[in-house]
Amino acid sequence: MNNEHRGFTSNIGAILAAAGGAVGLGNIWRYPYMLGQNGGGAFLLVNMFFVLAIGIPLMMTEFVIGRRSQRNVVGAYKKLERKKGWATIGYFGILGAVLIYAFYSVVAGWTLNYIVMACSNQLSGLTPAEVSETFASFTSDSFWPVFYQLMFLILTALVITFGVQKGIEKVSKILMPVLFILLLLMCVRSLTLPGAKEGLGFLFHPDFSKLTGAGILGALGQSFFSLSLGMGAMVTYGSYIRKEDSLFKTSVWISVCDLMVAILAGVVIFPAVFSFGMDPAGGPQLVYVVLPNVFNNMPMGALFAAVFFVLLGIAALTSTISLQEIIVAFTVEELHWSRRKSSIISLLVIFAIGVFCTLSFGPLSDVKLLDRTIFDFFDLITASYLMPIGALAMTIFLGWFYPKVEVKDEITNGGTLKGSLFEVYYFILRYVAPLALIVIIISGIIG
Ligand code: PHE
Repeated sequence: MNNEHRGFTSNIGAILAAAGGAVGLGNIWRYPYMLGQNGGGAFLLVNMFFVLAIGIPLMMTEFVIGRRSQRNVVGAYKKLERKKGWATIGYFGILGAVLIYAFYSVVAGWTLNYIVMACSNQLSGLTPAEVSETFASFTSDSFWPVFYQLMFLILTALVITFGVQKGIEKVSKILMPVLFILLLLMCVRSLTLPGAKEGLGFLFHPDFSKLTGAGILGALGQSFFSLSLGMGAMVTYGSYIRKEDSLFKTSVWISVCDLMVAILAGVVIFPAVFSFGMDPAGGPQLVYVVLPNVFNNMPMGALFAAVFFVLLGIAALTSTISLQEIIVAFTVEELHWSRRKSSIISLLVIFAIGVFCTLSFGPLSDVKLLDRTIFDFFDLITASYLMPIGALAMTIFLGWFYPKVEVKDEITNGGTLKGSLFEVYYFILRYVAPLALIVIIISGIIG
């Protein structure tokens, strides 16, 4: 670390890097199908409410912990805690990062394969049955998905080895604007298709009769997953934010970017899906099985298919970078490993675990944990348990066991920032967020 400042060199760098971590497969792959299954616009409104009311305050909480301590997710608690034991939250964060990365890299690897297929025109001209068959035979193969997963892990580790400024910040500053441009391009294509109106209606017309209790919880869980909260990604990135930047404004910008990408992804996907008479509630396969058919029916579809999968790949990459950085920051600062050694060893560990997630679509599909495949099990324990429990622990730590004056000092940058709505934030931190989190956790357990 350099002597002047250990982290990002500018506020825009911090926003783009953290928005890169937040914007990911969650926005483009998970959000649209959750929306499709939960009454479209109604889900969108509820999710938006959760992002604003709970997501932003929780992100600020992680930023406070990170920036105040100037440490990784474990070191942060060791430095800030008055009584020992809180660092356990940090270790759970590391565990969460490993488990999320293990299954996330499976889908990230799929995007690489689809980029290759789209660019080499292998997707065009297939019938819907052939598209489904291509997806099924690819994901259940025991070599190629593993190969692409490893490629994705290596790509991520390469960026990480270049460090926070020359790796993470630089790559995010290039890729995030590219992502936005590609997304807008895709929006224009989708909106100019016949039948686009119906898709927009589905997206923006709130049908609350289709929104169940599970859908509302799903919207809350989605806001967590999408904003990367509860396992220390934002603690780690928070430790890289400059002291003079406003944590409130930074969190708002990141959350707005994240929401915008999710909504725009919906604008890309649903008009196209309706225009070609496909089923909007296609489940997790929406992106890989439904969309290629849509592209096949579209003028210049092969080109747009390639653009779309590149977009998905970029979104995934900036997120895997943030996932691995949680682990690497920890091993560099706490275990005093070099960045290179940390990147390589963490890559190998993730790969060793991730392979099982990949193979759970093929040779290991019969292995069930709590009635789920290994992949689904990892998804479940991280998104439904580790992340909300981690977030709850963080709010309790900062809201109840850390002096209010210090929290205020960090949020207001030593009193220099006015109008930071500190009291509103503090109320949410102490009461609203923990209560909401307890509700999610309990309903997750009851099922
Ligand atoms: N927020 C990322 C997404 O939406 C996923 C993620 C979760 C990344 C947790 C980092 C940490 O895809």
